[in-house]
Amino acid sequence: MTSADQAEAACVTRPNEGQKVVLVVTGGIAAYKACTIVRRLRDHGLQVRVAMTAAATRFVGPVTFAALSGHEVITSMFEARAAEEIPHVRWAEWADLVCVAPATADFLAKMAHGVADDFASTLYLANAAPTLVAPAMEDDMYRHPAVQRNLATLAGDGVATIGPASGALASGRTGPGRMSEPEEVVGAAVRILKHGVVGHDLAGQRVLITAGPTYEALDPVRGFTNRSSGRMGYSLAREARLRGADVTLVSGPVALPAPAGVEVVAVKSAAEMATAVDAAVPASDVAILCAAVCDFTPHDPAERKIKKGHSDRLEVQMVRTRDILAGLAASSPRPFVVGFAAETEDVRAHATEKLSRKGCDMIVGNLVGGDTDAMGSTDNAVIVFDRNGGETAFARAPKDDIATQIWGAIGRFRAQLET
Ligand code: C5P
Repeated sequence: MTSADQAEAACVTRPNEGQKVVLVVTGGIAAYKACTIVRRLRDHGLQVRVAMTAAATRFVGPVTFAALSGHEVITSMFEARAAEEIPHVRWAEWADLVCVAPATADFLAKMAHGVADDFASTLYLANAAPTLVAPAMEDDMYRHPAVQRNLATLAGDGVATIGPASGALASGRTGPGRMSEPEEVVGAAVRILKHGVVGHDLAGQRVLITAGPTYEALDPVRGFTNRSSGRMGYSLAREARLRGADVTLVSGPVALPAPAGVEVVAVKSAAEMATAVDAAVPASDVAILCAAVCDFTPHDPAERKIKKGHSDRLEVQMVRTRDILAGLAASSPRPFVVGFAAETEDVRAHATEKLSRKGCDMIVGNLVGGDTDAMGSTDNAVIVFDRNGGETAFARAPKDDIATQIWGAIGRFRAQLET
């Protein structure tokens, strides 16, 4: 794991020790990454059993998965065992979650159509626990209407999907279809184990999220920024994607991997962030502006590095940046707008004042500085306020958990507005 991945993994929901996962490995190059998935699931204290399709065994040997999971691997319906065992039923009863990673186009088609012609597909049909799939295939295959149809059918059946990511494919091409990284798959798995089946309440909706700090250049090598890690916004983006949204994440400079299936627009300055938001807003149904945007930027950044010379003082004139949130909330038509208020004290008073002054639909208040600093941390505690005077507090938890709860609060308030 890179240090960014470790930081990322640290804000992932913590599941209950001993929960049980059946990992179904199907036949794609990404099967080798399933070894890491088993490792990471076990790092979370989970019990893991691995079922493989015949094709998967051409890529990675069952012995590897048996060693990593500490349990026998089943690859066929007809392996010698006592008839009364009916292992596909036993394994299905045992599982708290079935995770299919990698999920090939072929296996997704079988799942969507109820085909049960081997151990893995029969286990899926016998299973009543939540199911998560991590599709992995070439970009043309992924875009094929038949595959998209099958994924839509599975979403309708309540199956959660993670990814695929866009990037280098087995063929050497680049595009969507690459299996999400093991940490992402595990993050989604533990999130489902903790909070239950992910509803597809955001399916067909476009979500815009800003995250991270901005960087305001003073000269080509120096600038002003802040301690925001971007984790809260990345967790919100990941959760929105899991709930079925098309997500655009406008991100300031952070050291986090792009969440699977999310379009990341990388920006540096507040002005660049404002331009990227302007471009994404017309298509958005919901906008969550989570970024810690610098309020001031150097008026006249130097084109060359400022030399210290003999001076013992440097005066920099700063000008206000555009308030992206206030501008967006005042525009019409506009998406449902959620702001953030990072406060060093009296979160309720400052957050509710900001909610009405900036004209948001909801605002998420959190404390920064001190012992329970939200900024740069993997955990957060928040109070969510809505424009009708409602408020809900969420106790300190990993930011992925808080993201789940914030989306829950947004969903409830939007439903309330519709009735
Ligand atoms: O006024 P303050 O910076 O405390 O407001 C915080 C909220 O406003 C956050 O949602 C932040 O993303 C947003 N904001 C913005 N553009 C700015 C400053 C803040 O969108 N220039």
